[in-house]
Amino acid sequence: MKINTIGLGYIGLPTSLMFAKHGVNVVGVDISETLVDELNQGQVSIKEPGVADYLTKALEEKRFRASLKPESGDAFIIAVPTPNSADQFESCDIRYLVQALQAVLPVVRAGNTIIIESTIAPRTMEDVIQPFFETAGFTIGRDLFFGALSRKSIARKNTRRTCSK
Ligand SMILES: NC(=O)c1ccc[n+]([C@@H]2O[C@H](COP(=O)([O-])OP(=O)(O)OC[C@H]3O[C@@H](n4cnc5c(N)ncnc54)[C@H](O)[C@@H]3O)[C@@H](O)[C@H]2O)c1
Repeated sequence: MKINTIGLGYIGLPTSLMFAKHGVNVVGVDISETLVDELNQGQVSIKEPGVADYLTKALEEKRFRASLKPESGDAFIIAVPTPNSADQFESCDIRYLVQALQAVLPVVRAGNTIIIESTIAPRTMEDVIQPFFETAGFTIGRDLFFGALSRKSIARKNTRRTCSK
């Protein structure tokens, strides 16, 4: 099995390495060239216990590699930032999420699963993500399968700056 994780921060990197630890081949994608280079050299900048060791092992076993571009695979896990907007509702700014969707679209195939780990407001799946893939010709539930995960308990300390509503 091969997955892509999009966004290699506090959520995407540990998630990638846990999948790699369990035998999944993971392409970790980020827009930061520096981050991609550092991770491929085994350097971890986030402060999460154990992550550096998991990265070393995943690189040794060739289960994980960082890249600037997504590749075809079985599933895509999107974990890019969705910071609060400056409006009165502090609504989620989904511009990075939309960028990530645009980046994966050329390599998405029928049968794939797409999981949104980024924090999104209710109805974002129905109003934004589903129409995005339907416009590209996919039928949701037949060609593509969606999931959204919520696990606020693992949020890092500055959740104030990310969308938590
Ligand atoms: N699902 C959950 O249970 C859960 C829990 C906590 C946080 N979150 C959410 O996960 C998201 C990510 O949080 P984080 O703390 O990992 O963020 P982070 O800032 O630590 O990392 C995000 C990474 O995404 C990269 N990125 C930005 N735009 C990109 C793009 N278009 N393509 C590829 N990479 C891109 C950045 O360079 C960065 O490395 C946020 O929306 C956060 O609210 C979800």
